[in-house]
Amino acid sequence: MADLIITIDGPAASGKSTVARLLAHKLDASFLDTGAMYRAVTLAAMRAGVDLSDEQKLLDITQTCEFQFSVKAGKMTVRIDNTDVTEQIRNPEVTANARYIAAAPRVREELVQMQRRFAADRHKIVTEGRDQGTVAFDDADIKFYLTADPAERARRRQAELQGESGAGNLQQIQKAIEERDKSDESRAVGPLKPAEDAIIVDTTNMSIEQVVEKLAGYVKEKCSKKT
Ligand code: DC
Repeated sequence: MADLIITIDGPAASGKSTVARLLAHKLDASFLDTGAMYRAVTLAAMRAGVDLSDEQKLLDITQTCEFQFSVKAGKMTVRIDNTDVTEQIRNPEVTANARYIAAAPRVREELVQMQRRFAADRHKIVTEGRDQGTVAFDDADIKFYLTADPAERARRRQAELQGESGAGNLQQIQKAIEERDKSDESRAVGPLKPAEDAIIVDTTNMSIEQVVEKLAGYVKEKCSKKT
């Protein structure tokens, strides 16, 4: 297992992916976006035309497709059976359907094993998702939980979309975010919640740089105590 494991959990559009990527860069650590794994299985299942509520079929897809997750220029690249699907896993239909995969206990188990294997091969890792500090790495060195107001998260997501496919309606974006929160928080396995020993950071009034600095400060303090 890696010598340093940092987990960042939090709700949709809380900025955790960007923060995790920048923090990993700052610490010269590997970055793992576990949401990309759920998205990849979702896309593979949609392409295979399977019933998304059939857990056995989802598990078969997880075990028979070859998923590759690598980091290039700080960005996670995802391949299914050697085809690059990094862009496709971000489409809104995949985003909406990912909740089926996220609610399937045996698929989650597989993905958690994949995440632990990824960490085992690395020296330092910053991993982000919903259950990284609670399930996948419950013995992580430092656990963060990022939150932000739903309205602020909607504004951030809208700004992000503006650079990609167009702005989108703010109210609709907020509604979709709140629905994802509800589904993430209420599932029986790996629900979204802060680990008991997580440092909770409300990023509503903070810039990405401020959040990264704050987290890096905690890491520095923790590492100086360790040595
Ligand atoms: O963070 P994201 O929006 O890329 O996550 C995509 C989906 O995967 C979302 O529905 C939540 C789910 N997910 C999860 O259940 N557990 C994780 N560790 C990461 C993501």
